[in-house]
Amino acid sequence: MRPLAGPVLITAAALVLAGCGSSASSSSSTSSSSAAKLSVKSAYMPQPVTDSMAAGFLVIENDGGTADELTSVTSDIAQDVTVHETTGQSMREVAGLKVPAGGELVLRSGGDHLMFENLRHKPKEGETVSLRLNFTESKTITVEMPVKSATYQPASGQ
Ligand code: CU
Repeated sequence: MRPLAGPVLITAAALVLAGCGSSASSSSSTSSSSAAKLSVKSAYMPQPVTDSMAAGFLVIENDGGTADELTSVTSDIAQDVTVHETTGQSMREVAGLKVPAGGELVLRSGGDHLMFENLRHKPKEGETVSLRLNFTESKTITVEMPVKSATYQPASGQ
């Protein structure tokens, strides 16, 4: 393992430089020094067809200059919530999904998604499911996800 002293010193130096830089000119470090700024939109869960499993979809926007990564999800309604990546017709659990700087992570039907397994309660249309999204950079975001009909499709245009 690399000793920690190097990176720590660099960070401290960067903070000093940022602290005394009174000019607002655009330096080359502008984008890398602005933190990830996340917001969640278009969250929904189709009413699950089985008692044990449900999917969830949402879009995470990042207005900041630093990429972030969704690493884990928890919810009171399910024992396990995992992040799934869809490739072609198959899906697999992944350790995390990137939220690019100045971009967005889109979880949608037919693509990447959240998977709620071992449901403690089967969500019904009209209910709201509360979940917490954990990231490597940003603080945890709590999302109130509305439960829609089993065949619900969001308005296209993404
Ligand atoms: Cu899945």
